[in-house]
Amino acid sequence: MTAPVVLSASGLVKRYGRVTALDGADFELRAGEILAVIGDNGAGKSSLIKCLSGAIIADAGQMMLGGQPVHFKRPIDARHRGIETVYQDLAVAPGMTIAENLFLGRELRRPGWPGRLLRLLDKKEMLAQSVARMADLKVGIRSMTQAVETLSGGQRQCVAVARAAAFARHVVILDEPTAALGVKESDMVLALIRQVRDRGLSVVLISHNMPHVFGIADRIHVARLGRRAAVLDPRRISMSDTVAVMTGALSPCELPDDCLA
Ligand SMILES: Nc1ncnc2c1ncn2[C@@H]1O[C@H](COP(=O)(O)OP(=O)(O)OP(=O)(O)O)[C@@H](O)[C@H]1O
Ligand SMILES: [Mg+2]
Repeated sequence: MTAPVVLSASGLVKRYGRVTALDGADFELRAGEILAVIGDNGAGKSSLIKCLSGAIIADAGQMMLGGQPVHFKRPIDARHRGIETVYQDLAVAPGMTIAENLFLGRELRRPGWPGRLLRLLDKKEMLAQSVARMADLKVGIRSMTQAVETLSGGQRQCVAVARAAAFARHVVILDEPTAALGVKESDMVLALIRQVRDRGLSVVLISHNMPHVFGIADRIHVARLGRRAAVLDPRRISMSDTVAVMTGALSPCELPDDCLA
């Protein structure tokens, strides 16, 4: 049985002056899946996810979340609807601890009137929740009071992903989360992404790394020239054919039907 569609878009158009970044792009994300978004430079991947995360507004087209039309005007609109995004230039504060980073911008206040009046932070509760959250996601970082600048690149990325997963109710969007990482560090982040999916969230993963895409994706959305060229099933298509579809060397019509997802 196919899982229900969580987030979708149809006919998205986005122009920057004379450049058409999105030229009628469609998109469909299902419940509990990892959907990889791949495409050559300039294919419109970032523009697509920026529309989905409210960072830019499309000139035309529709988006639906849980079957309802949505119109995001800014990122907070998408966040309020349960969509969290980790952008490529990581939004972690290096000088702050892991616990502080996890609650950055959404700090918990102490209960009761003194807490509300004086806006006192509930550090104990934030620390306890951080420990629980990271253990739940099986992230092996010992101390939540460690400053993020003392972490490895992979661990930092895990903090950013865990933060998004903690606040997302439906969708986590990740733009190149393993781009700057080594093999071991990438594996750590990929394992975390699987944990996030296995907890029932849907994940959109932009990546240029084909082995990562094939190692983790349930389906592959191929962006090309501002549109969706195809959605592929990584269990049924080879990496080289996938790259050929991405570059336009192979038309999706030439593929056997069972390669399409
Ligand atoms: N803010 C902007 N102003 C002008 N042109 C832009 C802007 N953002 C994107 N573009 C153009 O729109 C097209 C699609 O860009 P986009 O960033 O969506 O591609 P991408 O698939 O994410 O590429 P990459 O793999 O290089 O990140 C490109 O031609 C790009 O130059
Ligand atoms: Mg991009």
